Amino acid sequence: MKAVSISPEIPIAKDLAIHGGEPVRATFLPYGRQSISESDIEAVVEVLRSDWLTTGPKVAEFEEAFAARVGAAYAVSFTSGTAALHAAAFTAGLKPGDEAITTPLTFAATANCVLYQGAQPVFTDVCPDTLNLDPDPLQKQISSRTRALLPVDYAGHPADLAAILEIAHRHGLIVIEDACHALGAEYNGRRVGGIADMTVFSFHPVKHITTGEGGMVATNDPKFAETLRRFRNHGISTDARQRQNAGQWHYEMVFLGFNYRLPDFACALGLEQLKRLDENLARRRAIAARYTAAFRGTPGVIAPSVRPDVNPAWHLYPIRLDLERLTADRGEIFRALRAENIGVNVHYIPVHLHPYYRDQFGYQGGEFPIAERAYDQLISLPMFHAMADQDVADVIRAIEKVLAAFAR
Ligand SMILES: Cc1ncc(COP(=O)(O)O)c(C=O)c1O
Repeated sequence: MKAVSISPEIPIAKDLAIHGGEPVRATFLPYGRQSISESDIEAVVEVLRSDWLTTGPKVAEFEEAFAARVGAAYAVSFTSGTAALHAAAFTAGLKPGDEAITTPLTFAATANCVLYQGAQPVFTDVCPDTLNLDPDPLQKQISSRTRALLPVDYAGHPADLAAILEIAHRHGLIVIEDACHALGAEYNGRRVGGIADMTVFSFHPVKHITTGEGGMVATNDPKFAETLRRFRNHGISTDARQRQNAGQWHYEMVFLGFNYRLPDFACALGLEQLKRLDENLARRRAIAARYTAAFRGTPGVIAPSVRPDVNPAWHLYPIRLDLERLTADRGEIFRALRAENIGVNVHYIPVHLHPYYRDQFGYQGGEFPIAERAYDQLISLPMFHAMADQDVADVIRAIEKVLAAFAR
C-alpha cells in the first residue's frame, strides 16, 4: 500500500520542531563520523617527516595487519573502496559481454565497477529480512554470460554467503563480496574477509576505520593478490621502492592498470585506526542493542533483523517505517527528524532507479519490488563510535516524538 500524506483531520503535535516546536537537540547529530586520536595524528606526522610519502613501508605493514585481522592470506590497499571494487572486477576477469549479478539496494559503486570493465551488471531482488542479495531469484538470473556474483553486506550484516558461494562453485563463478559496511562482521563464526574469493572494504570517514579515502581487497588467492597489486600500479610488475632497493631501473607494464596507490601516511593512519577496531565494533554493537531494545515498543518502527548465524558490524542502523501505521511518508518523517537535529540519512536509492541506469538500461521502476518497497521505508539512524549515551537517547526520543505525532 502506498504511504498516505499527512491528512488534514489528524492533529499535528504542536511541539514538533518542524512545526516550530523545540528540537530534541540544540546541535545537529550526524549519522556517521570519524574518530581521530592523538596517536593517529602522530603516526601520520611521522610519515610526513620520512622519505616515503607514497608506497613506502607503511603500505605493506597496514596490508599485513589488515589481512591478519580479517582472516585472509593477502590484503591489497587502494585509494578508495570504489578503486578496490574496480580492481576486483578486473581481477575476476570481467570483460565486455560478461555479466555480474548484484543487489540494487547498494551504493552505485558496487554496480559501476562492472561497467568500468565493459561488462553488464544484472540486478536481483533482496531478502525481505536482511535486504541482502536473495540467493533464490539470483539462481534464475545466471546465464552463460555470468562470470561473477557481487553480494553486498548491507548495513554490516553479512549476505547469505554459504548459499551464494555454493551457487558460485556450482556454476564456476567468482564471488566479490562488497563488505564496505562490514569490517569486523562475522558469518558462521568466520570473519568477513577470508570467506569470498575477494572481499572489498572502504575506509571512507563514516566507516569503521578511515584513511581519509581508501579501500582494500582481501583474498586467499596469491594470483589474485598479485594481479590486484599490479592493477593499482599501472599494470607494472614492480613498485619504485622495490626497484630502488634492488638497484634496478627496469620495469615492465604487463596490462593496462591505474594509479590507485594509497599513500604511506594514509596507511599509517589505517594501521593506528585498526588497533581501535574492536573498541569501535563494541560501541556500535552496544548502540544497536540499545536502539533495538527501545524500538521494540515503538509503533511504526521496524528494527533491522539479524540472522542467528551472523554478528553484524553495524556500519548503519537502518530502520524501516511501518507506513500502514503512520499518517506521513518517509520524506515527511525524514524532514521532521532532521528538524529535531537528528542527522538521519537514507541508504539507498536503488541503483537501477538512478537516471544513468534508467537511461542506459531502460529500468522504469517496479522491477525489484522488495528493494523498492524497502527504499520507501528506510531511514538510517546516527551510528558511529564516538556517539555518547546522551546522543543515543536523543535519537530514541526524537523517533518516539516524531512517530507519535504521525501515528495513525
Ligand atoms: C556498499 C558500498 N560499496 C562501495 C562503496 C565505495 O567506497 P568508497 O567511498 O571508499 O569509494 C561504498 C561507500 O560508501 C559503499 O557503501
